Amino acid sequence: MTSEERKKKLIETGIPLKTINEESAREKSLRHGLPSTLHLYWARRPLATTRSILFAQLVDDPSAHPDQFPTQEAQEAERHRLYEIMKRLAVWEHIHDSQLYEEATRLIRESNNGHLPDVLDPFAGGGSIPLEAQRLGLPAHASDLNPLAVIINKALIEIPPRFHNQPSIHPADVHPRDRAAGLADDIRHYGQMLRSAAFRKVGSLYPPVKDEHGEEHTVIAWIWARTVTNPNPANPVPVPLVRSWWLSKKKGHEAWIKPTVHDDGSITYQVQHNADGPKGDDEGTVNRKGAVSIIDGTPIDFAYIRSEGQAGRLGAQMVAIVAEDTRGRLYLSPSRVQEQAAEINKPHNVPVGDIFDWPGRINVFRYGMTEFADLFTNRQLTVLTTLSETVSDIRQRVCEDALQAGMPQGLPLDEGGDGARAYADAIAVYLALAVSRQTDRCSTINGWDKGYQKIRNVFARQAIPMTWDYAEANPFSSKSGNFLGQVNWVAEAVESVPATPPSEAHQADAATRDYVNMVVSTDPPYYDNIGYADLSDYFYVWLRPMLEDILPSVTATMMTPKAQELVANPYRHDGKDGAARFFTDGFNQVFAHIRQTARTDIPMTVYYAYKQQDEKNGTSSGWHTLLDGLISAGWEITATWPVRSELSNRMLSNGTNALASSIVLACRPRPVDAPSIPMRMFNQILRRELTEELRTLMASGVDPVDMSQAAIGPGISVYSRYSQVREADGSVMSVAKALETINHVLDEVMGDADADYDPDTRFAMRWYQSYGWGQEDSGIADQLARSCGTSPAALVRGSIFQATGGKARLLRPEELAGNWDVLADERTSLWEAVVRMAGILDERGVDAVVPVMAQVAERMSLDDVRALGFRLFHEAEKRKDTEGAIRFNALVSMWDDLALGAMRERVNLQERVQGSLDLDE
Ligand SMILES: C[S@@+](CC[C@H](N)C(=O)[O-])C[C@H]1O[C@@H](n2cnc3c(N)ncnc32)[C@H](O)[C@@H]1O
Repeated sequence: MTSEERKKKLIETGIPLKTINEESAREKSLRHGLPSTLHLYWARRPLATTRSILFAQLVDDPSAHPDQFPTQEAQEAERHRLYEIMKRLAVWEHIHDSQLYEEATRLIRESNNGHLPDVLDPFAGGGSIPLEAQRLGLPAHASDLNPLAVIINKALIEIPPRFHNQPSIHPADVHPRDRAAGLADDIRHYGQMLRSAAFRKVGSLYPPVKDEHGEEHTVIAWIWARTVTNPNPANPVPVPLVRSWWLSKKKGHEAWIKPTVHDDGSITYQVQHNADGPKGDDEGTVNRKGAVSIIDGTPIDFAYIRSEGQAGRLGAQMVAIVAEDTRGRLYLSPSRVQEQAAEINKPHNVPVGDIFDWPGRINVFRYGMTEFADLFTNRQLTVLTTLSETVSDIRQRVCEDALQAGMPQGLPLDEGGDGARAYADAIAVYLALAVSRQTDRCSTINGWDKGYQKIRNVFARQAIPMTWDYAEANPFSSKSGNFLGQVNWVAEAVESVPATPPSEAHQADAATRDYVNMVVSTDPPYYDNIGYADLSDYFYVWLRPMLEDILPSVTATMMTPKAQELVANPYRHDGKDGAARFFTDGFNQVFAHIRQTARTDIPMTVYYAYKQQDEKNGTSSGWHTLLDGLISAGWEITATWPVRSELSNRMLSNGTNALASSIVLACRPRPVDAPSIPMRMFNQILRRELTEELRTLMASGVDPVDMSQAAIGPGISVYSRYSQVREADGSVMSVAKALETINHVLDEVMGDADADYDPDTRFAMRWYQSYGWGQEDSGIADQLARSCGTSPAALVRGSIFQATGGKARLLRPEELAGNWDVLADERTSLWEAVVRMAGILDERGVDAVVPVMAQVAERMSLDDVRALGFRLFHEAEKRKDTEGAIRFNALVSMWDDLALGAMRERVNLQERVQGSLDLDE
């Protein structure tokens, strides 16, 4: 492979990680308009991350063009220009900035010999990678084993381009619309039509409720409690299983349910409107330990409830009603009329499918709910099957309307059509997704959220947990859990997709599909984190009947395929060890397969979901296994970027330290004839390259918290570029050993600066490494100070040290947070500058640091101060000095902003000095 073929990409040198991580975290709080609102999927990657990674993966690093950027300075300047573009690209609100996106696409094209490469994610899931590839102007390809994922990807990247810029049929529009806005309008229109048709058929099952004044209100949800027969033979009556009697804990609007036990053993429920509801153990009748009978206090264990459930003997009682009110939510006591409305027979055409017994993940099975239909009440089954069956009538109607609007008939959607038939199919797909969303808010697994006062969806976690009291939503209300709401979420998601260029999604096993000419960016499943297929069946049993005629290519199987799914499920793959083997072998096989046809000109990117447990006992076995797998499959790892959607300081203060939520690896195919090298040579190359790369990393704005993870990239790159690294005894060096060596060298490289420090800093660093901020004997201080060319007295004068009564210690940042006149200070050191600025920033904020920094810049190099900040973070982390780590990280990660402020301040300072000189004259 020539260097011409293998130009360095931006991702292999640096990326503006801080902004990417911040934007990824912020994305979580943006609820509306994100494509993820189309339909639930698990473990979705933030779009800010996937978009940024794709851009950096495809755009050349300036060092690949020495003709244009001959010096390091020129390369760095260009890199920063590209980072600025990436920072803007990371912001969700810029997605419609056509100039920005045209520039991004142009840069990608220029970096790839005038072509826009095809991007593939073979584990596409919720579609975050293919969608953002498409947004960057690239033909995107998505495949997944799971039909739900494929349907979502089709809805995001394949269907919208067929109707790009097309006007809507309703409202009848002759003007082209941007992207998929016309399609979104029609989804809303036909969604409304679907709702009305269903209401005509089954609306009478959802009667309004009367308040105490006889006024009618639309019901938002009925609150039910599951019941079990009291195990005490003296009182064998149904007793409620309730997690919490509270309905609303909103201040001033509290509401709770008061149960009253009557002499005949019957129980009635009255809603109370005050804050005096039950507390502690009385908050409900079930907690983690078990349940209790409200009739006579008999304890009820879970084993008993399970056996009653398996015998089909769990019941339900209505315990409250939540209704619409002009002022918000109205909580009412149950009534016989309302109970009767729910007493209907099971419809005949319920979805068919068995639930998998996965203890801890899918707990309902153990309570006798073994089929998906068991998770719904008869009324829920009735309304959902009605909505689902009516989708095909609407599809018929759309086709007629589209023909009338002048669209040619064309082929069906699944055969590549883009005319009236395909349009009708497309609308039906989106409506089917809306119905599927409804199932997530319309089963007996939905709880009532007493804080937000809304329906809690089934998949708040990656599980199907057992619920005791549940909220049965009214799909025809206009509030939480209603059907039009689902339609709107779908339409909003469609409005935000790029809808161009043409892209495709299909069902495929990543282990066997074709990768020729594809650039791969992918986020494979990680071990047993999520049982995608088993969870997806919940939706698939509803989606399949709606879509089997429309998307036959995706709905061929009765249930989602499980056998090839790369998930370490101990209940499916022969226990824990069998599951681990299945996962690791399967994972390695996929990446060995991709390697066979991989492009050499563009790296592949792989996301690795970091698990906290990985770090237990200082080993990260999952991480080693992954690196091992990739390397032995013939990949060279050229970069490792810690990406997260949690903000780092919060993580630090949570004690989770510098763990990223995931790591993105850039990988290149290793030449088959790569040589092997001895360890000695490995160490030499490692040292040389790490020194250089660390400089680039620091300059790229990587936060100190991310440094050790980011530095693994260039380190492991050296290791994986050779077929083998041989230890002194001739054995082959393992990945674990290589990682250890990399960390060691990283330490050394960081420590290399020691020799260049001023004596006070040299002393303080060594002292801190040994004793932190703790107190020690003055004698030790004296000795150490002498060996560093300073003395305790000088250190005290330098304001960084205290030595009294035979004891000595370093002054902590908070002790140095007061005013500091740097220019008047007779003895300053790098250490003093970093510790003081970190203290001032923490105690008094940015505005107080800027002027100090401006003065510091007059006395020493700010680059040196920053580098020491990095170093101090690193040392604080090693000492498990969390507070110190937070402070130094904050200082360095805000460096660019602070430095900008300081620069302005310096200009002012100089002008003032100049002004006073002028006056003197
Ligand atoms: C971590 S998820 C991808 C999430 C995605 N990046 C997103 O942001 O939404 C991994 C996906 O791999 C899929 N998968 C598991 N085994 C597979 C296989 N053998 N072939 C293809 N896809 C598979 C799962 O269905 C799941 O959707």
